[in-house]
Amino acid sequence: MADQALPLRRSIAANAVTLAPSYVALAVLYWHDDLAAGPALIAAAGIAAVSIVLVQRYLGSLARFARFVSELSGEQEPAMPRLKFAPVTEELAAAAATLAAGWRRQRASIDNLAASAQAIVDGLPDPLIAVDRQRRIVRTNRATLALLGPVAADRDLSTALRHPALLSAIDSLLMVADGNFVGPEQATVELVLSGAPDLDVIAHARRLPRAAADGSLALIVLHDTTALRRAERMRADFVANASHELKTPIAGLLGFIETLRGPARDDLPARERFLGIMAEQADRMRRLVDDLLTLSRIEQHEHARPDAEVDLGRVLAGVQDLLQLKASSRKVAVELSVDPSPLQAVGDHDELTIVFQNLIDNAIKYTRPATTVRVVARPLGQDRVSVAVSDEGDGIPAAHLPRLTERFYRVDTARSRQLGGTGLGLAIVKHVVNRHRGRLDIQSSPGKGSVFTVTLPAVVRRG
Ligand SMILES: Nc1ncnc2c1ncn2[C@@H]1O[C@H](COP(=O)(O)OP(=O)(O)O)[C@@H](O)[C@H]1O
Ligand SMILES: [Mg+2]
Repeated sequence: MADQALPLRRSIAANAVTLAPSYVALAVLYWHDDLAAGPALIAAAGIAAVSIVLVQRYLGSLARFARFVSELSGEQEPAMPRLKFAPVTEELAAAAATLAAGWRRQRASIDNLAASAQAIVDGLPDPLIAVDRQRRIVRTNRATLALLGPVAADRDLSTALRHPALLSAIDSLLMVADGNFVGPEQATVELVLSGAPDLDVIAHARRLPRAAADGSLALIVLHDTTALRRAERMRADFVANASHELKTPIAGLLGFIETLRGPARDDLPARERFLGIMAEQADRMRRLVDDLLTLSRIEQHEHARPDAEVDLGRVLAGVQDLLQLKASSRKVAVELSVDPSPLQAVGDHDELTIVFQNLIDNAIKYTRPATTVRVVARPLGQDRVSVAVSDEGDGIPAAHLPRLTERFYRVDTARSRQLGGTGLGLAIVKHVVNRHRGRLDIQSSPGKGSVFTVTLPAVVRRG
């Protein structure tokens, strides 16, 4: 540390004060003739030389001490200066350094606290916005950035969320009269955030008991309820669809019962015919209820993954036997080609039977008469197996493919009903395949036919 030039006036004043007593003594001695002029002048010069050197050094130490103390408040701790000409300042400097180290530690822990508070806020899955008493944005989290894009701090809340209902709810939360809050402590507002797609959002706003250190006074948490709403709508649609599907055969049955009791009471051939139709309708209702029960059973355990070893060759042979009669009634051949290597899937035997029963049943139903349905099972790399079911039917227009696995979705409802379908088969297939952590791929070329491919995890043998 280079010594700075000391201010001249201070230096002169300090030297004058130091020299004054000795010079007064010399003057008195000289006055009383106890000291000759020559020695008095020599003594005065000697005293001046020594005291000027000492005073300058002392003042230098003090200046270095002052600079050291002022540098202590900076980011870095300054080096301790040499202060041996002013021992008291050396002690003071050590004490100041200890004090500054304490401050620095405290500031580090305050910085840490602030960082971890922001980390917690950022870790929240829902978007959060904190506003101050003027409704200005103080703080947001990462989820807010994902939902609303960049939100400028220190701007009014309306720059980020322009929803009159929400803004007026926040205003009433922050309303003050005579220094007291007079509005409610919390508010809930439902909004739609327009975008692609529109999002249903519930905003929960709450006023803090008093403003936080950063000025935050009200917290707004946005909760995306789009998926929930969609699920609610789907459930309502599903109930409506299921009831509608049951209503038609029930109405049919009631109609025939009425006819059998009345006009056709004694018409034996008509009675036979009607009973046949009634049996068909009852059978349709049974199939529908069976499929609904299967669907709800599978949905209940959709998140638990089945883990038994299933021999796919055996499953497919069983399904082929089961559907033999139906296939030959349509003059359709079902050709099974199973890879000779063991094809063991990880899964549930009964559920996989349902999957291939539905896929092969569809292929038999929708292929042209007197054609072949091919089922090819083979390993796919080390850890997967695939089963492809292909037919030679009219195929499915591409626009329908994405919705095919929705419940009750059919390309041609009348045709599906006429062929005894419920419209739930592929929904069941999709659920089972999901539960098995597998995949369903549908390829179809209109006019040529369709291929439904199921990929499943295989049993991996080590060593
Ligand atoms: N192999 C296929 N060829 C042509 N269309 C098919 C095929 N499989 C399914 N579909 C179409 O997908 C719809 C839904 O299939 P699914 O859920 O099994 O219902 P369904 O009870 O009608 O068989 C069917 O109604 C049909 O329109
Ligand atoms: Mg089907």
